[in-house]
Amino acid sequence: MDRPIHQPAIKKDLFGEDFVWGVSTAAFQTEGACDADGKGQSIWDTFTARKGKVLNGDKAHTACDFYHTYKRDIDLVKQLNVPNFRFSIAWSRILPNGTGEVNTAGINHYHQVIDYCIEQGIEPWVTLYHWDLPQALENRGGWTNRDVVDWFSNYTEVCAKSYGTKVKNWMVMNEPSVFTGAGYFLGIHAPGRSGLKNFLPAVHHAVLCMVAGGRLLRKLCPQAQIGTTFSCSYIEPYSTRPRDIGAAKRANALINRLFIEPILGLGYPVNDLPVLNKLKKYMHPGDEDNMHFDFDFIGIQNYTREIVKYSFFTPYIGATLVKAEKRKVQLTDMKWEVYPPAIYHMLKQFNAYPQIRKLYITENGAAFPDRVNDGKVEDPKRVEFLQTHLQQVLKAKQEGYNVSGYFVWTLTDNFEWAEGYHPRFGLVYVDFNTQQRIIKASGKWYAAFLGE
Ligand code: NOJ
Repeated sequence: MDRPIHQPAIKKDLFGEDFVWGVSTAAFQTEGACDADGKGQSIWDTFTARKGKVLNGDKAHTACDFYHTYKRDIDLVKQLNVPNFRFSIAWSRILPNGTGEVNTAGINHYHQVIDYCIEQGIEPWVTLYHWDLPQALENRGGWTNRDVVDWFSNYTEVCAKSYGTKVKNWMVMNEPSVFTGAGYFLGIHAPGRSGLKNFLPAVHHAVLCMVAGGRLLRKLCPQAQIGTTFSCSYIEPYSTRPRDIGAAKRANALINRLFIEPILGLGYPVNDLPVLNKLKKYMHPGDEDNMHFDFDFIGIQNYTREIVKYSFFTPYIGATLVKAEKRKVQLTDMKWEVYPPAIYHMLKQFNAYPQIRKLYITENGAAFPDRVNDGKVEDPKRVEFLQTHLQQVLKAKQEGYNVSGYFVWTLTDNFEWAEGYHPRFGLVYVDFNTQQRIIKASGKWYAAFLGE
């Protein structure tokens, strides 16, 4: 590998020996092989086939072809000196119809991926649900159908029994507020449903599933660390006017508190977001006891901050985001503001819950318009992004806040959901025509930082 052009600004040692360093990916975004070896369709296979749903009509039939060439990408993880690799299992490879018959080829595939990680000295961190619900289950109501708790429990059990002796770190769910919000309220992610009537039952059932999944894993894999991950954005009010402050409070309840608080036994944040009272309609007697679980760790995933102002016209929440584009700030390719202190504030905010045992940053990273030049990809903005965010993580740690690890999103450029292939988040560049990989300057920087 070439000598890194950017010298690390901070030292890994400062984070302590036990600090967990990793890189995160997800099945649908990388695997491709959408119908290989008996895999069933997922809601994202269906959604990407619909016209106008994904930018430029991009599809994920091949994506990074990780399904076939996982060894090459795990070799890259190793080459980057990254000791922990987070990836997800595609439910529809394991159970093509969501429930019922188990697909042995799917089970074997993840055995191979897990085994290869372990052979390379890389610890696998497995996410059970990273948004790709089997379409067969969506046809039966998907996340709005309370039966999803049984379906999900069954899937969890199959995975735990198959991989439980090998996988020591599990994440039940990835960013429930995003898949329920974008997929069942705004309709901009799969399955493309909208409105409170879809969103609220999806939220409640996702909470029940996280808990059911956590409990099952604890029972079946008693030695494992069991966690789940949440997206979070640092919320600030647009002005000091009480109505903007109120709007920011409601947005914070929706964006940052909706899922973590029930899980911790605090219930839904109905006082700060009264529309959540409508969740009662979907709650059955006894649900309170099945809405919290003592996870070994919580993963938080932060990318930016949001500025929020009062809006009379936004139903239910009375708040709107002031777009970063209008704020004359540095933007990533996702049009998200680059604001490193956000990650520090989110660590502080989650540290305020004494019930959380351990916190990891399970995703942080940025998309920038990378180009290949002379066979190389220089991405100084990403290097700076990672360094400045790590500085904020270190600051939190040195101030005594609980933070035990950091995972970069992501290993290779991949399929960024409704944005298609345009946003490149990887430490490794992918030419999607040839599947060639080039380690970016940021990848070289991370390798040097971790290899110290
Ligand atoms: C969070 C999601 O978990 C991941 O799938 C996505 O690609 C990144 N954020 C970037 O948007």
